[in-house]
Amino acid sequence: MNKDEILYWLDPDRDAAPLFARADKVRRERVGDGVHLRGLIEFSNICRRRCYYCGIRSGNARVRRYRLSAEEIMGCARTAVRLGYGTVVMQSGEDPGWGPAALIPLVEKIKTETDLAVTLSVGEHSRGDYRALRAAGADRFLLRFETSDRRLFALLRPDSDYDARFRRLAWLREAGFQVGSGVMTGLPGQTRESLADDILIFRDLALDMVGVGPFIPGPDTPLADAEPGTLDLALRVTALARVVTGDAHIPATTAMGSIDPQGRQKALRCGANVLMPNISPTEHRPDYSLYPGKICTGERPEECSACVDAMLTGLGRSRAEGHGHSLKGER
Ligand code: SAM
Ligand code: SF4
Ligand code: FES
Repeated sequence: MNKDEILYWLDPDRDAAPLFARADKVRRERVGDGVHLRGLIEFSNICRRRCYYCGIRSGNARVRRYRLSAEEIMGCARTAVRLGYGTVVMQSGEDPGWGPAALIPLVEKIKTETDLAVTLSVGEHSRGDYRALRAAGADRFLLRFETSDRRLFALLRPDSDYDARFRRLAWLREAGFQVGSGVMTGLPGQTRESLADDILIFRDLALDMVGVGPFIPGPDTPLADAEPGTLDLALRVTALARVVTGDAHIPATTAMGSIDPQGRQKALRCGANVLMPNISPTEHRPDYSLYPGKICTGERPEECSACVDAMLTGLGRSRAEGHGHSLKGER
């Protein structure tokens, strides 16, 4: 698919049904009907950055900050095993209290004591730190580039650098991680043109995982008055990501489920093949407040597990077997 074709499908006035059907077919042929479940551990909401879109940005005094202990995180990992998940995704703000030096022994412990695959989503670190985290046993890393529009990136991430973010995706690859990236859709000032570039970049980077979510404005952020992204646009980008990448693992994201009660189900029918049920301790969930209206903030891990199983049954799909590693094989 070339850029003109991508732009054709990004037009909101165009009926998306043929695109969604095509993406669903590619998904079935390339990755099958199984849906991989990744248990999400939101282990710290402390962050040194001030990304304009994010509810847990540093300086937001309304956030009640927390940081799980190593023992609490091990408890979450054991919950993941009990619930039959093949992977834990450890996500946090860029918390100096949970920097690479602290994460390394924790990752080693999870890998020694369980059979889980470990995905990290902990932001920007040095090349050496990424290597060390990979050597400790972490299998995958998620680092969204958020937008390929340089101007927009600089506006929305005042203390981050566009080229440095992309350089890190190369470092992660070089360190041997399965690499995931992605974007938010519907950011203020984001053009269709730049979204088409985002989608081409998914293909050019040969990503193992691609995450797409609608931007949802938060009240205590500089973007409080911005318009939220639509589910329609997030679904179009998800479907296009499936068509251009073929076999990437693509989640039906929490943000999609948060702007529409059927958001994740719809994503699973237009290209997505992954769900990330929350396994964080319920007491801290409301404080990982990236955006308002986030789903699963009052549930226990068992409830989210039962919820996603019911969702899969309703869609005629089932849990996928195994760890759900990248299908791209040895590079
Ligand atoms: N701190 C790490 C980072 O930024 O890469 C990982 C955690 S960060 C909270 C995970 C993702 O949340 C970001 O990549 C971003 O796309 C998404 N996110 C943050 N604020 C959001 C918002 N207001 N609406 C939708 N998604 C948001
Ligand atoms: Fe921190 Fe990530 Fe939020 Fe940016 S998006 S403020 S790096 S948690
Ligand atoms: Fe958490 Fe549905 S997945 S309540």
